[in-house]
Amino acid sequence: MARTKIALIGAGNIGGTLAHLAASKELGDVVLFDVVEGVPQGKALDLSQCGPVEGFDAKLKGTNDYADIAGADVIIVTAGVARKPGMSRDDLLGINLKVMKAVGEGIKANAPDAFVICITNPLDAMVWALREFSGLPHNKVVGMAGVLDSARFATFLAEEFNVSVQDVTTFVLGGHGDTMVPVVEYSTVAGIPIPDLIKMGWSTQERIDAIVQRTRSGGGEIVALLKTGSAFYAPATSAIAMAESYLKDKKRVLPCAAYLSGEYGVDDLYVGVPVIIGANGVEKIVEINLSESAKANLQVSVDAVKELLVACKGIDSSLA
Ligand code: APR
Repeated sequence: MARTKIALIGAGNIGGTLAHLAASKELGDVVLFDVVEGVPQGKALDLSQCGPVEGFDAKLKGTNDYADIAGADVIIVTAGVARKPGMSRDDLLGINLKVMKAVGEGIKANAPDAFVICITNPLDAMVWALREFSGLPHNKVVGMAGVLDSARFATFLAEEFNVSVQDVTTFVLGGHGDTMVPVVEYSTVAGIPIPDLIKMGWSTQERIDAIVQRTRSGGGEIVALLKTGSAFYAPATSAIAMAESYLKDKKRVLPCAAYLSGEYGVDDLYVGVPVIIGANGVEKIVEINLSESAKANLQVSVDAVKELLVACKGIDSSLA
């Protein structure tokens, strides 16, 4: 069987890390595309020279030509401008919308059968726009946010409880922004929900509230530290988990920005919800009963995403 092909649109910090992870896990051959000449070629050459050391067999190619992504099985999109200190995700809207148009058209023309994972921010709006511009089925275009947000939440909780990250399961809903909804009652340590752990004296409501807040601004915390860009290791590894679930038909239940048509009372919008990812892309939206407060918080998040889409439609009339 021919090797799987993974195309990475954007060869910046996340794109390079994605290429390294995809190759070292032997998920397939990798094509790194970028508009900047030399960078994808240089990174591909550098990364291919990891092969003999790490012992992986994967071809890596850098390119500035969309024709090279032809036939890709998975496409991960990080093209665009990353957030700078003081810049909100929403400030990025205008610039990255134009990028999504070019990328969507490139995918439509060259790899319309691919499973597409969008990472570019502001995520919930960009994945919606990318789907519109590419014309791919909704179940084949998904946004990476929830896996990362859940991982951030889990990291902080494991630290708080002094337990292995492996035993922490977290649940995050909503948009990938300051309005995201970490759902405490569905987050557990070895199956024990956090409210029970509070009752057991493992933490306090105040400390958990602070962790929820830190999770919500988890991206901004890293931007403020890095000063010259945004997080890239954990975003890349999160998208690889999604790609792997698709390529290996693992049917993992992962929180992703998925297209909703009625679920959670939301229509024609990409919002973070738990989904099953398998060989057919997004195979199922997992709809759970939410507490009244989680519902209210989700609504705030949905409204924020809706506002972004109104802005997108204002900028590009073809989306209206
Ligand atoms: N087509 C392809 N690549 C593009 C385009 C385009 N039209 N416009 C910009 N790029 C490339 C840039 O040349 C750069 O190499 O996208 C890459 C982005 O890389 P970085 O600036 O290093 O950003 P990164 O940290 O990888 O984040 C990418 O993901 O998390 C989000 O907010 C983040 O939107 C940002 C994206």
